[in-house]
Amino acid sequence: MASCVVFHSYKGGTGKTTISANFAALLAKKGYRVSLLDLDVYAPSLQAYFGTEPKKWINDFLFGNADVDDIMMDVTNLVQRFDNGDDKTNNSKAHHGKLWIGLCNAKKEEIYKLESGGGKQDNSKINLLRKFILLREQLLSSYDTDYIVIDTSPGIRYWSINSLAVADTLFLTLKMGDLDIDGTRKMAEEIYSSFTKFGAKSYLILNKVAGYCVPHTSDTMRSIDNIHSSVSRQNNKSNILFEQQDEYDVVTMLSDKTRMEVISAIPCYCDIQFSRKEFLTSLQHPEHPFAKQISCLIESANRMKTTVK
Ligand SMILES: Nc1ncnc2c1ncn2[C@@H]1O[C@H](COP(=O)(O)OP(=O)(O)OP(=O)(O)O)[C@@H](O)[C@H]1O
Ligand SMILES: [Mg+2]
Repeated sequence: MASCVVFHSYKGGTGKTTISANFAALLAKKGYRVSLLDLDVYAPSLQAYFGTEPKKWINDFLFGNADVDDIMMDVTNLVQRFDNGDDKTNNSKAHHGKLWIGLCNAKKEEIYKLESGGGKQDNSKINLLRKFILLREQLLSSYDTDYIVIDTSPGIRYWSINSLAVADTLFLTLKMGDLDIDGTRKMAEEIYSSFTKFGAKSYLILNKVAGYCVPHTSDTMRSIDNIHSSVSRQNNKSNILFEQQDEYDVVTMLSDKTRMEVISAIPCYCDIQFSRKEFLTSLQHPEHPFAKQISCLIESANRMKTTVK
């Protein structure tokens, strides 16, 4: 069964784009057919991870000026470039993975057009929303997509709400540095509850938890891996790897206060934070602990697929 996974947050800079790009790329490497959409229409940034420009944008599709095939770029070769057959969990399936990406146009007049509905009667915002729902349907039917992964803008904005409305699973990312429990709880109560009522599931992802300032050489990766296996405590129900007691405590407190399950707690890795260029850690450094966290998130998402609407 296919699933639509949307990454959202209350505040900006919580890791939506980083996690969604890595999540989608690793899913494809594991053999799934994945469509990744940039619905951060106000400040699109997924493109930085793939370094390629489409002929047509999601904006063009929404305004009826492009077909789905014109906007979805096949970037499977990028995934294959890093596929060294190390996915022992599902090796026979691994070679069938596909990754398509659909990007939004960052030009200010295009952003304004989407926000205003284009100013014409027949391009009203509700028609744009209808086209967006059609995009989801076409990706599921014509592309036989296992996962649609959507990156959104922070906060309560028109296109983020639309994205949440088409989701089966909502992942709300929070940054450990500035936990906004009240804002998150309010958003969960006021916005997410309308979608979860109809069967969507919502979860918290705690990101940039106090972590390790290390370069990503294979030696340091090996030693971090050893630390992981010796000190991590694995929650039986979800796949969260807890590094420290206080992290475990924050997760428990957050779940209680927001009444949402924390499905992942991802440390802050300085090599990712301070990199001058965005890169797909989960493909380029499969031994990196960040890649392992994303892999755990995928396992959780796969388990959820059996329980979504
Ligand atoms: N676990 C992590 N460890 C270290 N750096 C991270 C981690 N997750 C994300 N980052 C870094 O944090 C910055 C913000 O991440 P990102 O752009 O993904 O956030 P965002 O939620 O998409 O932001 P926005 O709301 O502006 O779209 C980026 O520089 C990214 O590389
Ligand atoms: Mg972003």
